[in-house]
Amino acid sequence: MVDVVRHDVVIVGGGGAGLRAAIAVVEADPTASVALVSKVYPMRSHTVSAEGGAAAVARADDSLEMHGYDTVKGSDFLGDQDVIQYFVEEAPKELSQLERWGCPFSRNEDGTVSTRAFGGMTTKRTWYATDKIGFHMLHALFQTSMKYDNIVRLDEHFVTKLLVEDGQCGGVAALDVRTGEMKAILGRSVILCTGGGGKVWPFTTNGNIKTGDGMALAYREGVPLKDMEFVQYHPTGLPGTGILITEATRGEGGYLINSEGERFLTTRDYGVGTKAELGPRDMISRAIMLEVRAGRGIKVPGKVGEYAHLDLRHLGEEIIDSRLPFVRELSRTYANVDPVHEPIPIRPVLHYMMGGVDVDIDGKANLDGLYAAGETACVSLNGANRLGSNSLTECLVFGARAGQHAIAQSKDTSEIAESKLVAQADAEGGRIADLRGKKAGSETISGVRETLNDIMEEGTGVYRDQTRMAKAVTDLAALRARYDAISLSDTSKVFNTEILAMMELRNLLDVAETVATGAVNRKESRGAHACEDFPDRDDENYLHHSLVYREESGTRFDTKPVTLGKWEPVLRSY
Ligand code: FUM
Repeated sequence: MVDVVRHDVVIVGGGGAGLRAAIAVVEADPTASVALVSKVYPMRSHTVSAEGGAAAVARADDSLEMHGYDTVKGSDFLGDQDVIQYFVEEAPKELSQLERWGCPFSRNEDGTVSTRAFGGMTTKRTWYATDKIGFHMLHALFQTSMKYDNIVRLDEHFVTKLLVEDGQCGGVAALDVRTGEMKAILGRSVILCTGGGGKVWPFTTNGNIKTGDGMALAYREGVPLKDMEFVQYHPTGLPGTGILITEATRGEGGYLINSEGERFLTTRDYGVGTKAELGPRDMISRAIMLEVRAGRGIKVPGKVGEYAHLDLRHLGEEIIDSRLPFVRELSRTYANVDPVHEPIPIRPVLHYMMGGVDVDIDGKANLDGLYAAGETACVSLNGANRLGSNSLTECLVFGARAGQHAIAQSKDTSEIAESKLVAQADAEGGRIADLRGKKAGSETISGVRETLNDIMEEGTGVYRDQTRMAKAVTDLAALRARYDAISLSDTSKVFNTEILAMMELRNLLDVAETVATGAVNRKESRGAHACEDFPDRDDENYLHHSLVYREESGTRFDTKPVTLGKWEPVLRSY
């Protein structure tokens, strides 16, 4: 039999959203007990790699109205306006609180918090800590969480299944990576905060741990994933590794140039107007791709693709060292380029998924007892395109709200027969045991994963078309058979990372299926979904959210309305 542990709320994922949710639960109810379950140690969560900053109104020349409209417009009018309103109101409170918890935001001479410009924002609204906001934010949250004995950490536990009985989620089955034993972690509500699934694509800023685990867990239980076709390419990743070169470089005044040394965002019409390098990410990524297509890319041999240059030389060493020290370090280490003296090679790389588990404004999914927050969730803040620096704040605002609602609802739920949940975890233990060292065919994890990456780059890249998206759907279905034919060699129970990679690959395949299905069903161009055979936005037929369900017979596609408000959809131009 599996080990059984019981808590009030089970949180899967120990990054920004998960930690914030955990703190919110115990602040709302000091007697509550929280299990914080993570496949890594919290400080290794992907939040740590965030660089540029977190958005919230702070300056006299700014307003909630402006932050709200920037976000609505950035979303190409697909963001839900009630959600956006709540977000902009809570954002300054959350960032101020984070500062009290120890986050060392950079400051002006007069002691006020310093803010920097970010893409698609009308004023300087991004709070930052040089270019290492993720580390400082995560550290402040992690330390704060440690004040509470009733936040019980289960580090290095990989959740393989949600435990669902009678239409209610009552916990998770998790593999203790150190021992190889399965646990039933029971709770009256579960919050998924595992980040996105950027590893579906070959070139990404995302760390290896971002395999869409929470999204896939919910999807397999029949919970719809929403707006999955909208994936964000960050314009400035290092070619090859995909390592993020923060948008703060452009916020501080960096230029993008092509192979002819031309600052193309100012000389050609890419829709960004006078914003130039501070246009939104979807438009800038497309501009880089079009420069490459026009033969003005910088060519390199191999699969890396052509790229453009990010030029910081005119900023000078002092600004670079004081405001962008990490960018200098990353460029020197991973691109062999010192940005004080040379431009940095960059290309659009997959950075963020606007879609995720369909949740309401409280973070509640379409399954009793299940919540999600952060990149895992689609609360419909970001619509078709997220503005840079809104996502860290989103983790705080909606992590907190999900935590508060999860503990409140956990008191109302009916008792689920514990034995049935434990039996599910037991069966899951058996399934994992059968997988260890399984001999099935001649396929390998890396082979299937590489094909998956190729399919998704080809079918769901910066630019898409119906033929390539439809091919991605078909090819992904065929890839399932190859997954089933993967043979494994490691039979050990202790730190069997091969089993983890196998389960992560299953999650990636599930997430990829929803992205391609969402994409092929949206015959328009909106935000990050640039469909070459339908180049215009079509509000008459497509001003709706997409939903993809997993059913016995395969995927089912559906839609739901966008919550509009005072901002009427208009043509998006800058
Ligand atoms: O470029 C960046 O620093 C990324 C920020 C974000 O995605 O919010």
